[in-house]
Amino acid sequence: MSAPLTILGLESSCDDTAAAVVHGTTLDANVLSNIVIGQTEDHAAFGGVVPEIAARAHAEKIDFAVKQALKSSQKTLSDIDAIAVTAGPGLIGGVLSAVMCAKGLCASTGIPLIGINHLAGHALTPQLTDKVAFPYLMLLVSGGHCQFLLVEGPDDYTRLGGTIDDAPGEAFDKTARILGLSQPGGPAVETDAKSGNPKSFALPRPLMNRDDCNMSFSGLKTAILRARDQVIDEHGGLPRQIRSDLCASFQAAVTDVLVGKSRRALAEARKLNPNVHTLAVAGGVAANGTVRKGLEAICAETDTDFSAPPLALCTDNAAMIAFAGLHRAQAGQFDDMSLSARPRWPLDQTSPTLLGSGKKGAKA
Ligand code: KG4
Ligand code: ZN
Repeated sequence: MSAPLTILGLESSCDDTAAAVVHGTTLDANVLSNIVIGQTEDHAAFGGVVPEIAARAHAEKIDFAVKQALKSSQKTLSDIDAIAVTAGPGLIGGVLSAVMCAKGLCASTGIPLIGINHLAGHALTPQLTDKVAFPYLMLLVSGGHCQFLLVEGPDDYTRLGGTIDDAPGEAFDKTARILGLSQPGGPAVETDAKSGNPKSFALPRPLMNRDDCNMSFSGLKTAILRARDQVIDEHGGLPRQIRSDLCASFQAAVTDVLVGKSRRALAEARKLNPNVHTLAVAGGVAANGTVRKGLEAICAETDTDFSAPPLALCTDNAAMIAFAGLHRAQAGQFDDMSLSARPRWPLDQTSPTLLGSGKKGAKA
């Protein structure tokens, strides 16, 4: 049995500046603090994340995030056994902020440094929140990620498929923009969809019938744009009810694709490892009630456990980075000052690169 460790985690790969302290072992860890400083307002005027603005905001706020994380965990640097930092993939200017901060802290205190793949942070979260044992299938769905991963160990990932263009959260955000709703688009579309009829518009389900685990969401956004323009031509504007119908129809299409491809990915995962008993989700889109219900339904249908971390640990955060660091620290795997920030860093080095990059930069 490994001795409990205290890990400080740092994350700045996209548009959240985050620091957290996690204590325990990989089998039983607690999040002592989890500080996330968002940048939504900084990017609001630009309709997406602007890398230079993100990098500057990270550089300004990362020290404060670290101080807050230590303070709210009631720890000091002398209690920290290792500092784990996202070293990629992500927007390189942002990634550099936390990497430089972590290196500075490690160089001045002698605390060991650990570089973490951001996607590994997401992929290991079900262990932190629900103690899910390896192997399991992970569906990562956010504004920047969309992939199925067979997770067989802390360093053992097989990508079964992913988006070939936009990430689903990105499609929600673009749909909201097309329909004049607020950002982030996911919650706005979900709320509007509540009074809409999901069957009112026949939107495409791209790649649904293809015998693989890849997905495509960019055509869906174009279909929404065309449908909106047609409604405006016919009605001289976009009536509220029709807007809700469009939202509900869009949400139903995304859900059908994610659910259909999850069913296929579960079958693929079980072919590779029959001991897969859990489907875990992470990322902002996992907050969507309709998506969640659809995934729960196929889990019930296929005798699979369903794990969805609480939203604060589903979206970008540093607790997941600290927990991934705990795995590395327990295994005695540390980095030195040559650790570099990487814009691209696929978890599964053997899978071919997918075309999709997502609005928040290339991920894998
Ligand atoms: O994981 P996240 O906070 O950040 C990254 O993209 O890395 O995910 C944010 C994305 C946004 O695109 C947002 O619109 C989407 O998740 N999202 C949702 C919902 N809440 C957030 N999409 C659909 N339904 C929601 N309720
Ligand atoms: Zn992420």
